[in-house]
Amino acid sequence: MAVRPTPADKFSFGLWTVGWTARDPFGDATRAALDPVEAVHRLAELGAYGITFHDDDLVPFGSDDATRDQHIARFRKALEETGLVVPMVTTNLFTHPVFKDGAFTSNDREVRRYALRKVLRNIDLAAELGAHTFVMWGGREGAEYDVAKDIRAALDRYREAVNLLSQYVIDRGYNLRFAIEPKPNEPRGDILLPTVGHALAFINTLDHPELVGLNPEVGHEQMAGLNYMHGIAQALWAGKLFHLDLNGQRGIKYDQDLVFGHGDLLNAFALVDLLENGGPQGGPAYDGPRHFDYKPSRTEDYAGVWASAEANMRTYLLLKERAKAFRADPEVQEALAASKVTELSIPTLGEGETYADLLADRSAFEEFDVDAVAARGFGFVRLNQLAVEHLLGAR
Ligand code: GCO
Ligand code: MN
Ligand code: MN
Repeated sequence: MAVRPTPADKFSFGLWTVGWTARDPFGDATRAALDPVEAVHRLAELGAYGITFHDDDLVPFGSDDATRDQHIARFRKALEETGLVVPMVTTNLFTHPVFKDGAFTSNDREVRRYALRKVLRNIDLAAELGAHTFVMWGGREGAEYDVAKDIRAALDRYREAVNLLSQYVIDRGYNLRFAIEPKPNEPRGDILLPTVGHALAFINTLDHPELVGLNPEVGHEQMAGLNYMHGIAQALWAGKLFHLDLNGQRGIKYDQDLVFGHGDLLNAFALVDLLENGGPQGGPAYDGPRHFDYKPSRTEDYAGVWASAEANMRTYLLLKERAKAFRADPEVQEALAASKVTELSIPTLGEGETYADLLADRSAFEEFDVDAVAARGFGFVRLNQLAVEHLLGAR
């Protein structure tokens, strides 16, 4: 089947994804470093629309100002040549040993002040390059030992940092919003704001909650044993899906960062169906970048890297096509109605009905035939099998 990604599909990739040289805790790199300029050209050729980066992916940590400017200028030129955009920027607050106990929440106040300066500088660059989303993944914000971190104080410091950064963006007049990326663990034993739910509750305590949303990653929710599609649905419901990291994960284990769909494919199908068809009029529920945050496996050479980049986009487009077919199938529509999936959208009380009316409604309780209703089946398995058959291309 001809599946060709185009910029209209809004696919974006982190520079650190295709550029990962595959060093892991047990082995050396298996690939040579990738020039960011080449990444821009390759991704554009493959049909992507955007590229994202951590400050240190583009400008090696510790570069002087002149070198920094050169790296940025080369990158900008490649963007202009290809038309690729930078929808999102993020800061590396985890590689340098200074961040070994975290950045915004390090026990060491000097480290916290340095981290804020590193991020403020990078926010200026993000705005300069036209990014609208600034991701905050606090990989080192956590602990291994319960007695070694005052969690409530750490959350105070986390909030202090996000409030300061929000104020900076407001004062500078930048058109930039923050997206917190939850993760339960790795590299820390336990990371703060470990899931979508924790992050949502944190956002509600901020000075400018309207400026802060989420960047949920498939694998991170699944590492916590959670359902990613449910997390995305709740983020949408809360108006907080500012960005997302698509990849694949197989179960509760280390962060695999596989190609999108190479983990729980059925959940990926439901996710794409939600993103593409879950809007109010049946259209897209989310119109931001479809951002891939995966790691080309350590076994792959550069041919494999570009094949894997393409695989992410192809899988997404195939799932989108399958989800459309699923929605259009009259048997599916009938099964959705039979399963009362559509009935859930009808409010439980009628318009203007009060609890007094409910109390007066004998059919709701006194005359309600619990046993008869309890005996009715919902037909969910048949509905799910229809999804499986569409996913397999059998319908
Ligand atoms: C991970 C994370 C990171 C972040 C990235 C953005 O795999 O643990 O996804 O890749 O997304 O660092 O800050
Ligand atoms: Mn990850
Ligand atoms: Mn990520």
